[in-house]
Amino acid sequence: MSRPPATSTDTSTSPVILPGVDATRLPQHVAVIMDGNGRWAESRGLPRVMGHRAGVEALKSTLRLCSDLGISALTAYAFSTENWSRPGEEVNFLMTLFERVLQSELHALEEERVRIRFLGDLDGLPDKLQQLIADASERTVANDGIHFNVCTNYGGRLELVRAAQRLAQRAASGDLDPETIDENSIAAELFTAGEQDPDLLIRTSGEHRISNFLLWQLAYAEIHVTDVYWPDFNSEALREALLDYQSRNRRFGGLDPITP
Ligand code: FPP
Repeated sequence: MSRPPATSTDTSTSPVILPGVDATRLPQHVAVIMDGNGRWAESRGLPRVMGHRAGVEALKSTLRLCSDLGISALTAYAFSTENWSRPGEEVNFLMTLFERVLQSELHALEEERVRIRFLGDLDGLPDKLQQLIADASERTVANDGIHFNVCTNYGGRLELVRAAQRLAQRAASGDLDPETIDENSIAAELFTAGEQDPDLLIRTSGEHRISNFLLWQLAYAEIHVTDVYWPDFNSEALREALLDYQSRNRRFGGLDPITP
């Protein structure tokens, strides 16, 4: 997140207005499936892991843009419960990359008032990464800037199973009347508890799949798929996603369009 020092002619500290995007009708919560890192690298004759490294830069600039636009939350799919089936070397590289990024970026995240949270089964992550996550979450918990959620060892089905277990345990102990369970009770047991649902889901690299991401929370999200590989996702790609979002009529199951 580190940015060059502002000078009198530097506009980087002013809100970024992407041409044509209506700043009054922005999604409040943007979710991203950062796909195509491996293909980006392979298309350049590089090892796949170089794509993940480049993907971090794209994520940092997307977070910066969303923050400057005044978007309230950005949730990124960094590592799924299914990603453990990748070759051990790639998994190890990703875990080490997460650790390095947390160490190198924490100061800038604090300075820019970002509140970072990691969502998923964190117990399954390496000890060192768990410690860095706990430290980063604690140090940024009171920040009033953008909420940056990094889904790590995350699966939508796992999240729903966990929520069901937690509610069942409370019911079994007599703490909860099963008749009172409603949508709010379930939402409150998800990793995303306290966060409003995403308005916009962006998926890069052209795949039209949700891939076990935020299954509950994406119920009414607008979906934007771009062919761009994640490391190439830049301000123009974000602008296109926001323009696409602003062209939609959101009806939430009703008949009357609710314009974003
Ligand atoms: C999917 O591309 C991408 C990932 C599995 C990893 C994404 C992780 C980052 C960008 C790092 C984020 C880091 C922090 C700490 C926030 P892919 O490998 O599935 O691409 P492919 O479909 O082309 O093979």
